[in-house]
Amino acid sequence: MKLSVSGRAAAAAVVAATTLLATGSLAGAAPATPAVAAAPDLPVANVKAHLSQLQSIATANGGNRAHGRTGYRASLDYVKAKLDAAGFTTTIQQFTSSSRTGYNLIADWPGGDTTRVLMAGSHLDSVTAGPGINDNGSGSAAVLETALAVSRAGLQPTRHLRFAWWGAEELGMVGSRYYVNNLSSANRSRISAYLNFDMIGSPNPGYFVYDDDPTIEQTFKTYFSGLGVPTEIETEGDGRSDHAPFKNVGIPVGGLFSGADYVKTSAQAAKWGGTAGQPFDRCYHSSCDTIANLNDTALDRNADALAYAVWTLSS
Ligand code: TRP
Ligand code: ZN
Repeated sequence: MKLSVSGRAAAAAVVAATTLLATGSLAGAAPATPAVAAAPDLPVANVKAHLSQLQSIATANGGNRAHGRTGYRASLDYVKAKLDAAGFTTTIQQFTSSSRTGYNLIADWPGGDTTRVLMAGSHLDSVTAGPGINDNGSGSAAVLETALAVSRAGLQPTRHLRFAWWGAEELGMVGSRYYVNNLSSANRSRISAYLNFDMIGSPNPGYFVYDDDPTIEQTFKTYFSGLGVPTEIETEGDGRSDHAPFKNVGIPVGGLFSGADYVKTSAQAAKWGGTAGQPFDRCYHSSCDTIANLNDTALDRNADALAYAVWTLSS
């Protein structure tokens, strides 16, 4: 969706680049004057088209996209086909959990410094109770659309870009932990940062930024302040998603979240709109987490913030 941010985005990019220069593990990420084109405004219609496909996949596979079920593998195949057609190098990583086969999907964008890898990921599995469109079709579709935008732009970032869709998050971050545990120490040390997107289109949304790596956190905050949207620190269960295995081995992490089963306060409704006294997502882990269980504005803003962070932090 169009936002009138061209001048504002350029100014924000300078702020973010300057911040990067001042920090440790992301140091040297960007020149003081951004050399790359401004991040794209991701079409929210494209993100929603991916979500409609995930809904159809769930409907055709017993109503869910859960680990070890046919709807999970069909979801992975949908994402993989889009990435392959866009020129990504994709890898399926197989693992076993609860006696069922699970899969992670990894997509590398050819080029960039492979000793300094920027990763962005999301869990692609749902719970068995429902189709998992906000949790976590939303993050999965936004990461996919960001990757496709990288391809459309012919982006040639300084850093190497890698996108990931994790299996079996709902069983306790099984897929992402398997990925981290199976990295060689050399490949682990090459990952500069991991950005996580789990539930970013909640129907009664909040705008939460993880308060982990300060550079990543500031990058997201810069984007939202450019929109005039206030944010809060994510507190609804720190470590409850796929950034935790990365954080646990010392990789800088960050991410966005629009809220799960916590209740929106009246102060939060005053600044963000929506309904006080109701959960951010009343359909969390339920059969009603369908294509109707989304706030399009939150989905749009968070997807654009994701693309902005990928462009800025990989430059
Ligand atoms: N990861 C949780 C799930 O998939 C959702 C969740 C709860 C969450 N609290 C969070 C995600 C905080 C990110 C940050 O069920
Ligand atoms: Zn969940």
